Amino acid sequence: MTTPIFTFTFLPLFLLFSSTFTPITANNVISEICKKCAQEEYTSMSYKFCVTSLQADPNSQGADLRQLGLISMKLVKNNVTNTRRFIKNLLKNEELDKFVRMCLDDCLDLYTDAITSIKQAVKDYKMKDNRHANLAVSSVAGAATTCEDGFEETPGLVSPLTKRNNEMSQLCDIALMIITMVSSSFY
Ligand SMILES: *[C@@H]1O[C@H](CO)[C@@H](O)[C@H](O)[C@H]1NC(C)=O
Repeated sequence: MTTPIFTFTFLPLFLLFSSTFTPITANNVISEICKKCAQEEYTSMSYKFCVTSLQADPNSQGADLRQLGLISMKLVKNNVTNTRRFIKNLLKNEELDKFVRMCLDDCLDLYTDAITSIKQAVKDYKMKDNRHANLAVSSVAGAATTCEDGFEETPGLVSPLTKRNNEMSQLCDIALMIITMVSSSFY
């Protein structure tokens, strides 16, 4: 009659050890990152947006937390580059409302600086200078917010960049979350 006792004591111990030593695979890192992002009250990020964005990069398969940080910054960089190009094209329209043009000019400057910032963030992150990486990504997020706020200052203006600005902020929030997680000694 020793078997049942053995089973009862062995099983919980076994579970404890197996969960402690389960290798952290990409999919559960992504879901861990995205759960945390979706919990943050200051972001309106959906879990799905976060997972979809990270998984869109083929290199995210098998990536660890640190590598996912770089991937998230690459996503930010792509967004910044695409939106900057989009703004430049909008500005080619000669019939643009005067106020819209002023806002877009500001956004173009902001997005141009954001390219420098995200490149700096990648450098800092690669050198494990997480504090400066955080500052640089925060300034990219600030560019999106400032760009969007510009349109709100003149009543009646509709920002043609709302969706893009929102998505860029959210991508920055993913990168910032990963930097925070990487910085904590647990990882
Ligand atoms: C910005 O990134 C998101 C998530 O990766 C993507 O869905 C969206 O198409 C990108 N937008 C631009 C303008 O690149």
